[in-house]
Amino acid sequence: MRTVSVDRVTVAYGDGEPVLRDVSVVVEPGRMVAVSGRSGAGKTTLLSTIAGLLRPIEGTVTIDGEPLRDRDDAVARRVVLIPQDNGLATFLTVRENVEVALLANGHTPSDARRLTVEWLERLGLSAQRDQLVEELSGGQQQRTAIARGLALHGDVLLADEVTSELDAASRQNVLDLLRKEAERGVAVVFATHDPDAAAVCDAELSLVDGRATLVRTERAPAEDPSGTVQAAGAGARVARDDSAPGDV
Ligand SMILES: Nc1ncnc2c1ncn2[C@@H]1O[C@H](COP(=O)(O)OP(=O)(O)O)[C@@H](O)[C@H]1O
Ligand SMILES: [Mg+2]
Repeated sequence: MRTVSVDRVTVAYGDGEPVLRDVSVVVEPGRMVAVSGRSGAGKTTLLSTIAGLLRPIEGTVTIDGEPLRDRDDAVARRVVLIPQDNGLATFLTVRENVEVALLANGHTPSDARRLTVEWLERLGLSAQRDQLVEELSGGQQQRTAIARGLALHGDVLLADEVTSELDAASRQNVLDLLRKEAERGVAVVFATHDPDAAAVCDAELSLVDGRATLVRTERAPAEDPSGTVQAAGAGARVARDDSAPGDV
C-alpha cells in the first residue's frame, strides 16, 4: 500500500491565478482524510492533481516517495479516482461501465464479470445492472461510479463528492465502504462539502480560497451502542514546522 505526499503544491489553470496555493498534506495507508471546503475552494483541483490529471506549477506529489509524472503513471501506481462528474459512459449499461474498467485494468473477462456482479450488489444496483446509465437517477449514476472505482481495488482512492446525490441510507453505505477500503490499507482522500461526512474521516483538510489547513488530525469520538463515548482512530502527527507537510 502507498503513501500519498502532497508537498507545497501550487496549481493553476492555464495562465490564470493559482487555485491551490502551497498545499501540503500526507495521507498514509489505512487513513481516510476528508478534503472539505465550499464550492470553488479547490477540492476537485487537489484530487485531480493527486490523480495526475493536473501538473502543479510548483511543488510535488509523490506516491511512496516517487514523484508522480502524469495520469498514466498514477494509474500504473494504482491511484483510483472516482470523479465528481462520475465519468461514466452514459450510452453503456451499468454492468458494462464497471466491466470495461476492469478489463482495461487487466482482469480476465470472467473475473471482470464476477467482480462487477459483486460490486453492483454492494452498491444496491443489482436490479439496474442492464439499464443504460442515461436512464438512471443521479444517485444511481453516482453509485455506479463508486462501484466501478471500488472494483478497481486501488492502493490510493480519491473520492470526489461521492455522496452528494445519495439518500441517507446509501450515503451511510458508501461511507462504510470507504472505511473498509481504508481498513484494507488504502490511502483514502474524500472531498466533501458535507460536514457530517467529513466527520467520519480520520482527519480533515480544509480548503479556503485554495489554501489548506488541517482542521482535525484525529477521528472524532464516536458513540458506541452502549451510549458511552469512545475515542476512535489512531493518533495523528501534524506538521512540526510550517514548511513540513501535515502528516495525517
Ligand atoms: N478547468 C478549469 N479551468 C479553469 N478554472 C477552473 C477549472 N476547473 C476549476 N476551475 C476553478 O478552480 C477553482 C476551484 O475549483 P474546484 O477545484 O472545482 O473546486 P471545488 O471542487 O472545491 O468546488 C474554482 O474557482 C473554479 O472555477
Ligand atoms: Mg469539486
